[in-house]
Amino acid sequence: MSVRLNHAAIFFNEKTGEFHLQGRNFSYIFKILKNNQLGHLYFGKKIHHRDSFSHLFTISPRSNTTCQYEEDESFSLELIKQEYPSFGTTDFREPAFQIIQENGSRITNFEYIKHKIFKGKPKLDGLPSTYTENEDEAITLELVLYDHLIETELTLFYTVFDRFDALTRSAKFVNKGNQRLSLTRAMSVNIDFFDSNFEMLHLSGAWARERHVKIRKLEQGIQSISSTRGTASSPHHNPFIALKRPETTEHQGEVFGFSLVYSGNFLAQVEVDHYGVSRVTMGINPFDFNWLLKKNESFQTPEAVIVYSDQGLNGMSQIYHELYRTRLARGPWRDKIRPILINTWEATYFDFDEEKILNIAKTAKELGIELVVLDDGWFGNRNDDKTSLGDWFPNKKKLPNGISGLAKKINDMGLKFGLWFEPEMISKASNLYKKHPDWLIQVPGRRLSHGRNQYILDFSRKEVIEYIYSMIDNILSDAPISYIKWDMNRYMTEIGSLGLPPERQGELSHRYLLGLYSLLEKLTSKYPDILFESCASGGGRFDPGMLYYAPQTWTSDNTDAVERLKVQYGTSMVYPLSSMGAHVSGVPNHQVHRITSLNTRAAVAYFGIFGYEFDITKLSEREKNIIRKQIDFYKKHQELIQTGKFYRLLSPFTGTKNEVAWMVVSRDQKEAIAGYYRILAEPLPGFKKLVLKGLNPDFEYKIEGLPQTYFGDELMNFGILLDELGGNWKKELTGDFVSLVFALHTL
Ligand code: DGJ
Repeated sequence: MSVRLNHAAIFFNEKTGEFHLQGRNFSYIFKILKNNQLGHLYFGKKIHHRDSFSHLFTISPRSNTTCQYEEDESFSLELIKQEYPSFGTTDFREPAFQIIQENGSRITNFEYIKHKIFKGKPKLDGLPSTYTENEDEAITLELVLYDHLIETELTLFYTVFDRFDALTRSAKFVNKGNQRLSLTRAMSVNIDFFDSNFEMLHLSGAWARERHVKIRKLEQGIQSISSTRGTASSPHHNPFIALKRPETTEHQGEVFGFSLVYSGNFLAQVEVDHYGVSRVTMGINPFDFNWLLKKNESFQTPEAVIVYSDQGLNGMSQIYHELYRTRLARGPWRDKIRPILINTWEATYFDFDEEKILNIAKTAKELGIELVVLDDGWFGNRNDDKTSLGDWFPNKKKLPNGISGLAKKINDMGLKFGLWFEPEMISKASNLYKKHPDWLIQVPGRRLSHGRNQYILDFSRKEVIEYIYSMIDNILSDAPISYIKWDMNRYMTEIGSLGLPPERQGELSHRYLLGLYSLLEKLTSKYPDILFESCASGGGRFDPGMLYYAPQTWTSDNTDAVERLKVQYGTSMVYPLSSMGAHVSGVPNHQVHRITSLNTRAAVAYFGIFGYEFDITKLSEREKNIIRKQIDFYKKHQELIQTGKFYRLLSPFTGTKNEVAWMVVSRDQKEAIAGYYRILAEPLPGFKKLVLKGLNPDFEYKIEGLPQTYFGDELMNFGILLDELGGNWKKELTGDFVSLVFALHTL
């Protein structure tokens, strides 16, 4: 039995019990084992389908220290690569799941029952996920296993996309018996790779230096990254890892990406065992997770998106970019050109009134900016970060005409208006806290800690979600708002809910996320034309979960051009340029106090969703003229930047680390823009050229500003001499923090 599309196919061979999932360039093969569990056979470059892959199965007991099945001395799960393993029979590696039963047992036995293969991809209940727009875009395998003793069903979902080399996986548990079960681990994916000749790449950092690229060689034992911060996937580790071969580079070689569509506590782990098998598991962090499953209750894990590429890290990233840009992000803004915005945060912080915002808007209009975003400080008595979160009504002292009055005035100037919210939080100094002190996440009798003077609303409670929804809805239905910045600025501590019974306290972090997702779903459904940008102290929640609701994310609070090179480079491992908010800010920079030119600040911000964030009313005429040109340039190339193929050329994390370069090429290869950045001046630097990528070797390109033309093959093999890039070039490249952006097009 098989279902096929143009490139993707799923085969099932009844005789051998084998499943073969084929993407455009990969094969993923597993089988029903003789104990009726699932054994993994192969994941890698596409191979021919055949009647039997039994010769790929390996089980040669190599030591007498393994434990075997009583009825079959040759069978031990320790020696078998598996699909969704359990612990406690004959496998000693960390499992994909664990269930505690009423008698205290943690032993399970899920056996294959049935499966179905069909075109399309079902939605995940209450959770964000990738999707199809018609059923010819993907094929899904739903495979059902059953544990007869505890009468519990486990369904594994696999979807193969036709257009992308991507496979998605998730799992669902349904308790069909009478026992009360506790799910203490429920990962989204498990894959046992044949060997461990890999390096693990992850995106780690901190606030203001998010998603730096880290690479380490796999070693025997467990290597992992995770979040335990509750409200966020975190700036410390992004919910993504890749396994690359040691010889894999940005442009060549094999790599497997694992990305979790989730915004909270996660775990991504690779366990290399004593036979050199690498077990990759990814899902909700089992630490502090305990989900009660009563009769007829179910638990659905988030989705993991697995990408295969033999075209290096760039190849992997391009698959994620296309998939996430077109089949994870949703709504009318998914495909629309995004407005160039001015954000008031670094311009005014809390210190503004209507007149100040209107002055900013007036200058914005003169410059060609399209959207004015009023950041924090517009509501309740909010004049610093100590008060008013939860009181989502305008501060009439600052804004006598309210939000609607201000928004209308800004609209009358021919500009759109956007507004900041931090809906998940509450200040103790607020009316909301006076009314509902029990709505905070807290543990009775324990001291509460705060983050930035604020506390977290208990989003596991429906009444809290409804209240916040109605507050936001009041503002949105009253004022012409085109954009929302959805911020979140603290992590969970003293994790407890006054709305949940004792046996469900271990569910709070995940229930919080489900509440957040439901609120976002409700708001984005009622207001589809509002552009949402998510934010968590900058890029603390830059993950696929949030991208499902908000097609763009504030990449980092660090707006320094040099720091942004690293942040944006790392972010581009997974996330498309269309998702990265990037603003030109003032100097000295507010985070690192570095002074860079207006040109360099824009040259970095062009490679994202462009905007400004400083007091533009204080600009000189000369600076205004530069900004007008920047805006013209960005608008001219915006479609290419938002939808083109992105190539990383020189990394800030390897090599000299002093030069960074990247480029974006249109889908038809007729246009491209490249950015080259040199951080510190070098004495007598030698000859420099930049080798480009992604062009058509046979097309003849013109580089704007240069007299001659170049064939794509020349530019991608010899490259372009930096000295050649015009008379200005040498001048532009004098000193520190310099950059050059150049556009190419065919004749
Ligand atoms: C944190 C965000 O990352 C900033 O951009 C800004 O919106 C502040 N919060 C406002 O409090």
